[in-house]
Amino acid sequence: MKVAISSDHGGNRLRAEIIDLMDEMGIEYEDFGPKDDGSVDYPDYAKPVAQRVADGEFDRGIVICGTGIGMSIAANKVKGIRCALCHDVFSAKATRGHNDSNVLAMGERVVGPGLAREIARTWLEGEFEGGRHERRIEKLKELEQ
Ligand code: RB5
Repeated sequence: MKVAISSDHGGNRLRAEIIDLMDEMGIEYEDFGPKDDGSVDYPDYAKPVAQRVADGEFDRGIVICGTGIGMSIAANKVKGIRCALCHDVFSAKATRGHNDSNVLAMGERVVGPGLAREIARTWLEGEFEGGRHERRIEKLKELEQ
């Protein structure tokens, strides 16, 4: 699995934490920045991750900002993206199983690093359940037309 990850300035520390986690898990990733702590606009950093996941260059994406909200809204504007904003482990497991979410959003100012790592681990390991959920994903795709 290849993961694209980015944040805005509000998510830099948590992005570093999740990169550490992916190193520990042996997951291949590419970091789309930002490279320093200066203030940036979250759509500029959600876009490269979301587009590469939508294009199939990466299997999954992780986007982080202060709340996770801006990044999740931006990622979900890209056709083919099902970005889930998760701040608990139950939702992270459920959104992989039910929504086949391909991008995870989190907010550094909402969750601590320990919980964020568990959320990301659960989401990265989670598998889509298919079945009745497949039909619902197809209906999401229809909404994009
Ligand atoms: C930046 O201050 C903050 O607005 C951003 O990180 C994010 O929370 C937006 O949704």
